[in-house]
Parts: sequence; structure tokens; C-alpha cells
Amino acid sequence: MTPPTTTNADAPTRLVVVLSGRGRNLEAILEAIEHGRLHARVALVVSNRPSAGGLRIARHAGLPCVVLNPSGFGDRESYDRALAARVAAEQPDFVVLAGYMRILSSVFVQQFQGRLVNIHPSLLPRYRGLHTHERALDNGDTRHGASIHFVIDDLDAGPLIRQGSIAVRADDTADTLADRLMQRVEQQLYPAALAELTNGRVQWHNGRVWRDGQLQEHCPHADYDSLAPV
Ligand code: GRF
Repeated sequence: MTPPTTTNADAPTRLVVVLSGRGRNLEAILEAIEHGRLHARVALVVSNRPSAGGLRIARHAGLPCVVLNPSGFGDRESYDRALAARVAAEQPDFVVLAGYMRILSSVFVQQFQGRLVNIHPSLLPRYRGLHTHERALDNGDTRHGASIHFVIDDLDAGPLIRQGSIAVRADDTADTLADRLMQRVEQQLYPAALAELTNGRVQWHNGRVWRDGQLQEHCPHADYDSLAPV
């Protein structure tokens, strides 16, 4: 197997961000772009929920937004085909799932495979799916984290790009843990991973992650405990 070639570092990478919720990851991505830490442009923000806070953030930043409401579609696949068509129209280099709370069908995943990334609030492969913070606390985990990964058909099972974690505190609730994870880890980790994708350091090749021209055998992991307390 030969290492993949690197991408053009001059033109800003085109991102389409797909979300359902508050948009704190989108906010961090936009801030990283603004401060020159991420050489990218958000071409479109898509939400399945008209009330998503992420839409307000996008509009405030002057970004084009689309709401695609699932209620107008018969089944998941027809919705995902419409979503795929809208996303593809923007010719994105990467499709960034940032708190998108619907499971994507294969029709979408296959169309963007290798360009489709997600943030999941756990140290995968632990806690695929929902309620990750509760499950970490229930299991008495001493550390909890987030993972950036390429998306494949299997939910939360795609190749890992990078992970970050914080210590769990004795008095943590699911809410305090989730908030601290968002502020300390997620909002740093996603822009950092996207920067590695946009500058070509990290690439998808035949279903594997390559880093600096080498097959990535182990996912890089950073701890975020040393940041100022949140
Ligand atoms: C984040 O915790 C993310 O990891 C998960 O959904 C949440 C989205 O939060 N997939 P926000 O909408 O970015 O504020």
C-alpha cells in the first residue's frame, strides 16, 4: 500500500456542517477558522431541527443555512437522499457531523465515505450510542473523553482520528461532566482534528487512517486536564 498524496494547502477547505443541537462544536470550528488555526470555510450548515441553537450561531456568522425537516419524508432513506443531494451541491471536501442526532443510512455514508467525520462524546470504542456521560459515571470510569472519527455504516465504529480526555471528578453529574468535556475537550479537539484533515496530515485511505504518510496504528490521545479549570 502506498501513502496517499497530500491535498492542496492553498484553497480553504470546504466544510458542510450537519447538526441538530446547540452548536457549540460549530462555534469552536468557526472560532478556529477566524483565528487562523483552521484553513477552511463553512459552505453550508444543515439542521434537521428548525429550533437548533446551531442555526442561530450560523446565521449570526452570516453562513448559509438549510433546515431539512424529516417530517416531510416517508422514510429515513428518502430523507438521507435529499440530505445527501443538498450537501453534495456544496461540493464539500469534508462533511462535519457536529451533534447530528439522527442515524445516517448507508446511502448517505457511502456517498461521503472518507470525507465524513463525526465527534462522539466518549473514548471509543467505549460507549457507542447515547448517554455516554451517564454510562461513564455508572461504570466508575476515572477518565472520560471524546473521539473524532471517520463515519462508516456501523454506528460510532469508524476509524479513529484523535481522542482527548479529562479526569472524572467524584462529584460529577452527567451534566457537569458533559459540560466540562464540551468546553475542555470537544471544542479543542474537533478544530484540531479538522486542521489535520485540511492540511493533509491525516487522510482516509482504503478505510484506514493515515497520519504523516504512515498508517495510523494507534489513535493519538491528549489529556486536557492541565487547562485552566472550567
Ligand atoms: C456533543 O457532545 C457531541 O459530541 C455530540 O453531540 C453534542 C453536540 O453539542 N455528538 P453541540 O450541538 O455541538 O453543542
